[in-house]
Amino acid sequence: MERISITLPEKLIGDFDKVLEEKGYASRSEGIRDAIRGYIIEHNYLSEISGTTAGTVTIIYDHHESRLSERLTTLQHDFGDIIESSLHIHLDHHNCLEVIVVRGEGGPIRNLVNKLKSTKGVKLAKLTTNISEIPR
Ligand code: NI
Repeated sequence: MERISITLPEKLIGDFDKVLEEKGYASRSEGIRDAIRGYIIEHNYLSEISGTTAGTVTIIYDHHESRLSERLTTLQHDFGDIIESSLHIHLDHHNCLEVIVVRGEGGPIRNLVNKLKSTKGVKLAKLTTNISEIPR
């Protein structure tokens, strides 16, 4: 075992502790180990997509975040060849939910999802797909 030290916002730690309590974790460390395992599994799942596939990417973001809506629109234009459609819902005063329908090769879909995930202000970016090798 290796000991690491991380800095997290108070709100995130509070939310995480609540989840750990609900799930019945004995320690924060065990919860963090499981969360990291889940992160790696999800990454590997994205890496395994091959051939043409279709699916949806669901994102939640705060549209008050500086220039975020504009950056997300630019990103979606950059990936215009794999984005079939999108649906925008104004969830509440701050949050927007978008469902982006994608169809294309695994590589570009993976790139899009990773770019969405790493965009500052995007709270959630989740790919749902189990349809592979569909005809175009
Ligand atoms: Ni909105």
